[in-house]
Amino acid sequence: MQSTHAYAKLNLSLEILGRRQDGFHDLISVMQTVSLADTLTVSLADSMRFECTVPELGSPENLAYRAASLVRERYSVQAGSQISLHKEIPAAAGLGGGSSDAAAALVATTHLWHVPATCEVLQPLAARLGSDVPFFLTGGTSLVEGRGECVTPLPPVRETWYLLVKPPIDVATRDVFAALSERDWTDGATTRALAKSLASGGQVTTGINTLEQPLFRLYPEALDCFRAVQDLFPRRTMISGSGPTVFAVCEGLEDARAGADKLAGQYWTRVTRSCVPPSGDTPCR
Ligand code: C5P
Repeated sequence: MQSTHAYAKLNLSLEILGRRQDGFHDLISVMQTVSLADTLTVSLADSMRFECTVPELGSPENLAYRAASLVRERYSVQAGSQISLHKEIPAAAGLGGGSSDAAAALVATTHLWHVPATCEVLQPLAARLGSDVPFFLTGGTSLVEGRGECVTPLPPVRETWYLLVKPPIDVATRDVFAALSERDWTDGATTRALAKSLASGGQVTTGINTLEQPLFRLYPEALDCFRAVQDLFPRRTMISGSGPTVFAVCEGLEDARAGADKLAGQYWTRVTRSCVPPSGDTPCR
C-alpha cells in the first residue's frame, strides 16, 4: 500500500488567447501547486476498485479511476488496484483537485504495477484525461501553454502564503469557457511578464485572469465573494482558474490567518502555501 498527496493549484495568471479548431481554447498561465492536498492510497487488488470520502465523487467517472484504467489498458496489466481517495480540495472550485488526483493516480499505479513511469509515457495519457492534468506531472511553479499540455517548469518561488475563499457554488469549467467572448481574449503579455519575473527570482504577484469576467457574468455570487476578499487584500486578489475560488497573495501566515478569521463565517476558507511536490511524484519536472 502506498499513499501520495495530490496538491491543489492556483493560477497566478491566466489569459485566453483565442479559440482553436478543436473547440478548446489556447491559453497561457502561470500555475503553482499549494500545500492543500487530497491523499490517494493505492494497493494491489484482483480487480479495479475505487472509493472516495466524498460519496458523489466515488463513481468510475472519477478522473483518478479513469487515469488508473488508462495505465492498465496502455500496458495490458492483468492485476487490479484498490484506490482510496481522501478529498480535502473542493470539487468544481478552480483548484484543479480532480486533475491533480488523476495525475497522482497515473504515477501511483505505474509504480504499483511496475510499468514505466517516464514523462514521455505519462504526458499523453495526462493530456487525454484533461487540460490541467499535464501540469500536475511537473507541479511547482510552471508556465503552461497550448490547451494546457505545454508545460515549462520555472524555478521554485520563495515560500508564499495564500488565503483561499470559496463561495458555496459549483462551477463547470466548460460553462465559463462557453461564456467567453472574443472581447475577453488577450495577447498573453501580462502572463509572460510574470513568468519572466518569477524565472529571475522576482516576488509572487498577481497577474490577470481573463476568465474572471465571464465567471462574474454567470455567477454574481462569485463577484460578491471576490469583492469581500479584495476589500481585505486590495491588488492581491484573484480568481483561480474558472473559479469560483478566490485567492489572496498574503504577506505571511499571520496575514492569511487574519483574513480567514474575518471571512470564515460566510465562506469556506483555507490558509495554504506554495509547495513543490516530491520529485518522485512529478516525472516531468
Ligand atoms: O480539458 P477539460 O476537460 O478540463 O476542459 C473542460 C472544458 O473546458 C472543455 O470541455 C472546454 O469547454 C473548456 N476548455 C477550453 N480550453 C482549454 C481548456 C478547457 O475550452 N484549454
